[in-house]
Amino acid sequence: MSFRIQPTAPSRPNRCQLFGPGSRPAIFEKMAASAADVINLDLEDSVAPSDKDSARANVIDAISAVDWGTKTLSVRINGLDTPYWYKDVVDLLENAGDRLDQIMIPKVGCAGDIYAVDALVSAIESAKGRNKKITFEVIIESAAGIAHVEEIAAASPRMAAMSLGAADFAASMGMQTTGIGGTQENYYMLREGQKYWSDPWHWAQTAIVAACRTHGVLPVDGPFGDFSDDEGFRAQAHRSATLGMVGKWAIHPKQVAIANEVFTPSDAAVTEAREILAAMEDAKAKGEGATVYKGRLVDIASIKQAQVIVRQSEMIAG
Ligand code: COA
Ligand code: MG
Repeated sequence: MSFRIQPTAPSRPNRCQLFGPGSRPAIFEKMAASAADVINLDLEDSVAPSDKDSARANVIDAISAVDWGTKTLSVRINGLDTPYWYKDVVDLLENAGDRLDQIMIPKVGCAGDIYAVDALVSAIESAKGRNKKITFEVIIESAAGIAHVEEIAAASPRMAAMSLGAADFAASMGMQTTGIGGTQENYYMLREGQKYWSDPWHWAQTAIVAACRTHGVLPVDGPFGDFSDDEGFRAQAHRSATLGMVGKWAIHPKQVAIANEVFTPSDAAVTEAREILAAMEDAKAKGEGATVYKGRLVDIASIKQAQVIVRQSEMIAG
């Protein structure tokens, strides 16, 4: 047991991150009007190389021109292996208004990647007298990213969130799939001739959650590509929430409501959590550290579990 107190992650709703290509400004107002907690304007892989400059200009305009309400506004820059990323950072930080909250850095492979962007962002913030410090979110979507996940989570005080990017991750790992998240046909166990599907994303998600919780960063599940499959999205989201992730990306607006529903603790879960806290208050008054709730053991660890649900619900409500 460590004497260190686990740092808290940023206290903000992050149930759904809605993406849209920076090269498609016609949807920016629709994104702003959505129920997503976080907006990700994309300069990276949904934008063709020939559109990189115009997409950057669209995004810089829209940051000030569109009313983003109380959403967290994030821009995904290009990866550090491209010729675009430095201009994304410089143009954004020099020219975008103060409404910009966050930069998403894709394909991070080590803490040095964060350090490089941090150095550039810090210099421009200081040169421009920007008052609001930009936060960072990153995508773990390579073998190097998952191998170095903990140093990445710890790399900068700007670190706010970390997502699993299933498609690039699968490619980098050499996984035999073209699916973006969800159940994989060939990832099954056999018992008495019957197939039982397992979850190939599970270990990477768990590694991300552990790194994030160790360093006070929000763990987020990335895209689910088949937006015609609502129940597949819901199942993936439920698994992520159960593992400790706080939200999931939407790559189509129809996914937003499902993510919001899954990552908002249900009334029944909140009621049960409050009843456990009350049962433990009664136990404490009697000088007991453990008691029985609905036929099962609850003890002092149960207080912490119940508090996770109650706090999440209160944070989202208010
Ligand atoms: N945000 C907000 N609104 C969106 C949207 C988005 N990401 N994608 C589509 N819409 C709007 C459309 O404009 C359309 O609006 P309308 O009813 O007013 O005409 C409506 O939602 C239905 O759109 P639909 O026709 O089903 O989709 P599409 O063919 O226009 O676009 C995608 C489908 C997948 C290309 C598009 O959703 C998209 O670009 N998603 C984000 C991709 C991305 O950013 N990837 C990077 C991260 S992995
Ligand atoms: Mg990617």
